[in-house]
Amino acid sequence: MIAEINDSDEFFQKALRSRGVKRDYSAKIEALLKQMTLEEKVGQMTQLTLSMIVKGRDQNIEIDPAKLQKAVGQYGVGSILNVYEQALTPDKWQNLISQIQNAARKTRLGIPVLYGIDSIHGANYVQGSTLFPQEIGMAATWNPELMKRAAEISAMETRAVGIPWSFSPVLDIGRQPLWPRFWETFGEDPYLAKVMGVAFIRGMEGSDLASQDHVAVSLKHYMGYSFPLNGRDRTSAWIPENYLREYFLPTFAAGVQANAHTVMVNSGDINGIPAHANHHLLTDILRNELGFQGFVVSDWADIKRLVQDWHVAANEKEATRMAVMAGVDMSMVPSDYSFADLLVELVKEGAVPQSRIDEAVRRILRVKFELGLFYNSMPDAALKSKIGLPESRQTSLRAAQESITLLKNTNGLLPLSKDRKVLVTGPTADSLISLNNGWTYVWQGSEPSLYPKDRPTIRQAIEAKLGGARVTYIPGTRITRRPDSPSNSTPTNIDEEVNIQAAVEAASNADVVVLCLGEGSYTETPGSISDLTLPEPQLKLAEAIEAAGKPVVIVLVEGRPRIINRIVDKAGAIVMAYNPGNEGGQAVADALFGDINPSGKLPFTYPRSVNGLITYDSRAFETEGEHLPIRPQFEFGSGLSYTSFSYSDLRLSKKTITGNEELLVSVTVSNTGRRAGQEVVQLYVSDLVASIAPAAKRLKRFAKISLQPGQSRALNFKLRREDLSFIGSDNRPVAEPGDFDVMVGGLKARFTLK
Ligand code: BGC
Repeated sequence: MIAEINDSDEFFQKALRSRGVKRDYSAKIEALLKQMTLEEKVGQMTQLTLSMIVKGRDQNIEIDPAKLQKAVGQYGVGSILNVYEQALTPDKWQNLISQIQNAARKTRLGIPVLYGIDSIHGANYVQGSTLFPQEIGMAATWNPELMKRAAEISAMETRAVGIPWSFSPVLDIGRQPLWPRFWETFGEDPYLAKVMGVAFIRGMEGSDLASQDHVAVSLKHYMGYSFPLNGRDRTSAWIPENYLREYFLPTFAAGVQANAHTVMVNSGDINGIPAHANHHLLTDILRNELGFQGFVVSDWADIKRLVQDWHVAANEKEATRMAVMAGVDMSMVPSDYSFADLLVELVKEGAVPQSRIDEAVRRILRVKFELGLFYNSMPDAALKSKIGLPESRQTSLRAAQESITLLKNTNGLLPLSKDRKVLVTGPTADSLISLNNGWTYVWQGSEPSLYPKDRPTIRQAIEAKLGGARVTYIPGTRITRRPDSPSNSTPTNIDEEVNIQAAVEAASNADVVVLCLGEGSYTETPGSISDLTLPEPQLKLAEAIEAAGKPVVIVLVEGRPRIINRIVDKAGAIVMAYNPGNEGGQAVADALFGDINPSGKLPFTYPRSVNGLITYDSRAFETEGEHLPIRPQFEFGSGLSYTSFSYSDLRLSKKTITGNEELLVSVTVSNTGRRAGQEVVQLYVSDLVASIAPAAKRLKRFAKISLQPGQSRALNFKLRREDLSFIGSDNRPVAEPGDFDVMVGGLKARFTLK
């Protein structure tokens, strides 16, 4: 059972408290460290990719004994990561991991290897695993209990194949919608992302990391990666420190508080300093201020990129020194031995102190001890039966259903009745690839043959509900991939017309059109685009369909908000599906035909125009002023239901609060419609006057509740002084005395902070 969330703060505080079993391994670690040579220590700090130890291709890869001997036997690498091209079967994984750990056992000190993988939305590199909505969709559920459960399942299925470490969650804040990893975030708001992020960590790490159901997480990508000025992946961010702390640090700070075991570094730069060379971020803030105890891993080849891309180091040796001294404990090299060789030289020359090496190795060994790897690093064949269980699939379906966000529904067009004749059209209507996006079976999610055959696309789920005879499917346009990389101005995904005219003709024979638009799959650099507008072939299809005169329901299957202002007004209904995963086809059909009542809320501001990018917490005059205000297409936190809710009795316990007094806020929510439904009650605070121009409003609490028709419920929230604070110009939190408004569901009340 997944409980409903009565108060995001209660959930959050409880998640922080349940950090669980703490065992002290210091004596064991020190004893081991004493026996280690410099080369063995540096080996522990080295991470290589799987292709460095295998031969063959695809499903036929096999350990190459000579390569394995070099990596684990000779260099004693501490960690191996990734897939070689594609998801493997549980048997294959267990076989590979066993051979790796066997090689590790045979080394002088027998230190186990820490295998790491990107389990981004489930154990997505394990065939037959349960895949969940991507983080942006999970955020839209506003249901941290559900996030926690999904993360538990992802961890269980990852560990089941013998892999104890996942490179997730992404705790970057999605405030730059062009960024090709926008969908990997929990959206634009630091509070929502912090609550969902801690839920993810708690689910994955559990309360005992040594348990066979849990894995260590990696909070990534620390920090500011998600806010490139130009929107392209791995490029520059300009973020003053007070804003870095206001918007980008809170999720990581919460993750550290939740005892997350590893952190991965931002591949970009902030204010000209690449994060991998940034001592202030990696040591002053992360270690000295937040007290992070785990280890820091670089991102892919990012030490080399300090030379090649950033030009802050003249050669790789200098880059290695910079990164290690800044605070990188493990280098995701990943495809050669340069890091290990250079670091040994640097220590011998005195350029990197031995104490820094010992510090990094202690941290890495501690994670290996806490994972229980010294006692049991071998995969357990019995655990394979935990992968892809029917109840796990149910949780995924529920998550997809709760993520579906109804953005427009003129005259109650939705839900559709099941006796209508439906035209299903658009490039995402029949695509599991669009439903899943990147990090699905392969890095780019782009290999159709690897997708399960028994999961319906949107089209198939509608056909199953209505019977094939009532449904016509005409794609209209399609999305294909460039075979080569997007090195010039053409993006990876290409939109093309297929048969728009045929779709228009079919529309005239249908009662209603379900028009599925959006994106193909992508992540990282291949997903960069130069224009947020929905590609022209899709707009053309939509305009032609809308002109045909039948009611049109637009379903958006996309990882970032593509601009749709040309087609919004004439659409009768608009449903946002995000990237809901393999159960997404079913979930969309359930929402369209009223088998579920949508309850998702947008975790970001949907822009109306390409140059009108804004977040909900900008200054009030930017959205409300008289001079060309920026009006979002759809607002952060918005989402309709098939029932209606009303808010009343907003009450504050005090008119004035002093010192550390708490403020109690109560409000009553009623279901005033005819269907049962879930509502996300959102509490915002606005600081009326502050020394740094205040946000119009900021989300401080939320609760997801279920109400039967006619039912009412009173909710109580507690606000503390810290909820009224912001980061001042001296980069420290401050709560300045003055008036504040509390806003819940259209109601407002004022109080004064003394
Ligand atoms: C990505 C990381 C990922 C790593 C390992 C990098 O390119 O930026 O998010 O964890 O690869 O696959």
